[in-house]
Amino acid sequence: MLSKPGNKKDKFKEAFADAAASSFQTVYPDVYDKVGNNEVFNPEFIYEHLEKPKDPKMGRFALPVFRFTKLLAAKPQDIAQAVAGAMTIPEHVPITVEVAGGFINAKVDFSALAEESLVKILSLQKEYGTEDIGEGKTVIVEYSSVNIAKPFGIAHLRTTILGNSLRLILKKLGYNVIGMNYLGDWGTQFGKMIVAYRKWGNDIDLSDNPIEKLLELYVRFHEEARTNPELDDEARKTFKALESGDPETVDLWKRFKDMSLADYLKVYEQLGVEFDVITGESFLNDKMESLIERLEKAGLTSVSKGALIVDLHDPQLPPCLLKKADGATLYATRDIVGAFWRWEEYHFDEALYVVANSQSDHFKQVFKVIAMLEEAEQIPEQERIANRLKHVDFGWVKFGDKTMSTRSGNIIYLTDVINKAVTLARKKIREKNPGLQTIDKTAEMIGIGAVLFSQMSVRRLKDVNFIWEDVLNFEGETGPYLQYTHARLCSLLRNYDGEITSNPDVSLLHGEEEERIVELLADFPGAIRDAARNYDPYFIAMHLIKLAGAFNRFYQRKTPEGRIDKIISDDAPLTRARIALVRAVQVVINEGLRLLGIKAPEEM
Ligand code: ARG
Repeated sequence: MLSKPGNKKDKFKEAFADAAASSFQTVYPDVYDKVGNNEVFNPEFIYEHLEKPKDPKMGRFALPVFRFTKLLAAKPQDIAQAVAGAMTIPEHVPITVEVAGGFINAKVDFSALAEESLVKILSLQKEYGTEDIGEGKTVIVEYSSVNIAKPFGIAHLRTTILGNSLRLILKKLGYNVIGMNYLGDWGTQFGKMIVAYRKWGNDIDLSDNPIEKLLELYVRFHEEARTNPELDDEARKTFKALESGDPETVDLWKRFKDMSLADYLKVYEQLGVEFDVITGESFLNDKMESLIERLEKAGLTSVSKGALIVDLHDPQLPPCLLKKADGATLYATRDIVGAFWRWEEYHFDEALYVVANSQSDHFKQVFKVIAMLEEAEQIPEQERIANRLKHVDFGWVKFGDKTMSTRSGNIIYLTDVINKAVTLARKKIREKNPGLQTIDKTAEMIGIGAVLFSQMSVRRLKDVNFIWEDVLNFEGETGPYLQYTHARLCSLLRNYDGEITSNPDVSLLHGEEEERIVELLADFPGAIRDAARNYDPYFIAMHLIKLAGAFNRFYQRKTPEGRIDKIISDDAPLTRARIALVRAVQVVINEGLRLLGIKAPEEM
């Protein structure tokens, strides 16, 4: 991956951390003797513990000292005073240090910051924020993982969107990323589906709208099985036949799978979601027995009511079910096998499972079984995978006040949601800009952008409340707002007929609004890193909202006489500097939207 000099660490923060660490040594020599190069005496520790003040006016970053009171046996204010007082910042580093309570705040000279960020963005363009911290590391991001022969419903919306964005974010940081779709294409439900099809579906034409028809059959199966339990037995037998490769059953299953996949691929294309690998549970079928043997040999299995289980010896977790009494394997069995397969295939440093938090216990069980097996087999530490597996969980999506679930027949189809979003977006654009040439294309971008952004506009563990008026609002914390701001930036750039300089005179950008913009531009690489560290695109989403807000305040600013302070004016040097700022904001919003998987229109 690309490695751009100076794009790694914030050099102001680095200088601050160095100065603070040696100041701690000066002020607290006795503690330093005891703990050595640890804690506050270590610049890297300080660097990692710098925070952003809530009020940007307090400074660009701050070191809170509260957590060190015990170590240093002093009050926070006293620590902050003493350490700030003894800090020597090298002359060429344009930061000043101030104390506020238990914080040491650092302010960065505006021109220096503008030089650092603006000039870098204008020369690196969309490579700004690109890093190599992930170089040589492989990460599997599994997402979407829809269940075949079922509609692509709203329940799989968030995993699809979060995972797609995480894939892009980690790539940006230099990781070797494998975006994986692990289709739910195996399990007893296919026994049910096949039984239903054979009984009631033979003369149904599946060629148009196959998924809906399969769903109808599936729902009917459940209804009839309530009064006719023999159906369930038949379904179990049919799944066994599928597992052991009975050609007719496999053929039918394959037909269902191909038809479903063709349908999903259309949705992915519309959403702009991509994968590096599409695999599925069925693929693991022939790898199950050897894993079960391994578990048995390690002495981890036992039989309970005819079923094969692993007791996890954890009061919080029920035993992990490997095989039902009839010999059929389960979802968890396949995930255990799948993790080892992924390891053999990719030797990942980390494997992420972007799956709703309703499956938390499932992943705890799976990871625990793997850890127990590796322990029992005494696999060397560096070849163990249990600690490399991570469930990236997230909250529900609530439509109105109904919580969505695909377990029942009443599913909200994702295509319906997309179509509605595009229709509503088209209506809005027509009102705002009736003359727009590319209205259909733009409406598609905006409608889909709205749906995508809605899934990342709250932290992933929080539930999303999907309200149509909110997600399509051109003024709230929404995708359309960012897209609209991007189009506005592009329009300014189109209206400017000079050349865009990559070395603007930053002394002309000295307003409060400009300063805020510059700070946010400088913090964009940090937002990308935060998103990666927390496995949450939310950090980029919110950073863009702030940047767009700062830019729009600048755009709408009035002169003391009450006129709009126009960005493009007769003052050529001023216009040149401002246009450079506009360009930098446009580059960052464009790249930020790309990382969220959202298209950035140039006009709307
Ligand atoms: N297909 C499953 C479902 O829709 C999700 C699969 C999640 N991934 C996994 N490795 N278990 O519920």
